[in-house]
Amino acid sequence: MIPAVRGTHDILPGQVERWQRVERIARSLCERYGYVEVRTPIIEREELFSKGTGETTDIVQKEMYSFTDKGGERITLRPEATPSMVRAYVEHSLEHALPSTKLYAMGPMFRYERPQKGRYRQFHQLDVEVFGLSDPAVDAEVIDVAWSLLEALQIPEIEVVINSVGCAACRPTFQAALLAALGDDLPKLCQDCQRRAVTNPLRIYDCKVPADQPIIDRLPHSVDYLCESCAAHYAGVKQHLDLWGLPWRESHRLVRGLDYYTRTTFEILGRTLGAQNALLGGGRYDGLVKALGGPDRTGIGFAAGMERLVMAMPEQAADETLPKIAVVAAGEDARNEALRLLRELRRAGLSAHMELEARSLKAQMKRADRVAARAVVIIGADELARGEVTLRLMQSSEQRAVARAEVVPAVKAALGLS
Ligand code: HAM
Repeated sequence: MIPAVRGTHDILPGQVERWQRVERIARSLCERYGYVEVRTPIIEREELFSKGTGETTDIVQKEMYSFTDKGGERITLRPEATPSMVRAYVEHSLEHALPSTKLYAMGPMFRYERPQKGRYRQFHQLDVEVFGLSDPAVDAEVIDVAWSLLEALQIPEIEVVINSVGCAACRPTFQAALLAALGDDLPKLCQDCQRRAVTNPLRIYDCKVPADQPIIDRLPHSVDYLCESCAAHYAGVKQHLDLWGLPWRESHRLVRGLDYYTRTTFEILGRTLGAQNALLGGGRYDGLVKALGGPDRTGIGFAAGMERLVMAMPEQAADETLPKIAVVAAGEDARNEALRLLRELRRAGLSAHMELEARSLKAQMKRADRVAARAVVIIGADELARGEVTLRLMQSSEQRAVARAEVVPAVKAALGLS
């Protein structure tokens, strides 16, 4: 046996119904909020992520699946969707092509991380992005999409955490204050933090090393260093969240691990999830479209880890599958009629099953049980002669004759389907 690659998973029947529910609810919610779907390739040029996600991020430094293809081009399996969405937006001038640029995407992402519960090497994201809109109401609306999604999935005990990391104008002042406050303590921090102090000081807030925490707790907060317009924007975001009654908590440590963020950052945490508790995360990235060769347009969005949504969704929220109908035939002539009926049932939108390898009546009834058929339609020589079938309801064991022409409506009525 050749097992699956570490950190990847097959999604099998039993689980797949939960995925289908998440996908269906996400799709319908996004569309209700005015988002349209975009599907981008899983492979991109490596430089899209080194430029987009950022050279100093863990993703680019340690986690990308990159290779040189046979034409000598550096290719990467996408570790996140945002740079691809920006690329598609720029490459196809979507701001002109679409009435509004509120986009969503779903699909697999790849990061070479140490696998654990909730963290995988191939995982899936629902990604939501808005281009060209800067009003704080947009930030709140994006957070509302995220919140409403979790609510629709009945995920309990969730918490919205927000922060503002400022813009290109005020970030340098904050970084300087941060480094000044660190001062002589810098050599006491872990190796990663010392590296971050040089490459991207804000990332020091991401540090989980216990010994570093007392020092990090004393560091200044980005919200105290916002320029006037960033401060007004952040206040506006909070106002709009309050207007819609969305509860939030501010955390000055929410800097997020990607380089492109400006102003609003946010995450929604699930308390039932364990160590990997971020159901989703996102924020504003006002400089990214331009940095990737596009017009000077703002951006904001989030991505939800679909494995985590599936995991956090309560048991009873799983999808109901269509009830199954088994068609059972006794004898060669009856079999042909049964095959006709099988197709008829399926074309009428029903989920019908028949054993195609000729089997005894008893074996066919056993299989009907095994596939959990709710109704069985039996055709034997007698039924055939009378132009009827026998309809048996498995739960009540009730059995009756139904005219051949009436089978589809009779089955639908018996199973309570319209
Ligand atoms: P991110 O925080 O890297 O942000 O990922 C978003 C979500 O994807 C996480 O909150 C988590 O639920 C899930 N996730 C990330 N890595 C893994 C993994 N290895 N295994 C399972 N789930 C994972 C982004 O990707 C940004 N592109 C979000 C964004 C969109 N910002 C603006 N627009």
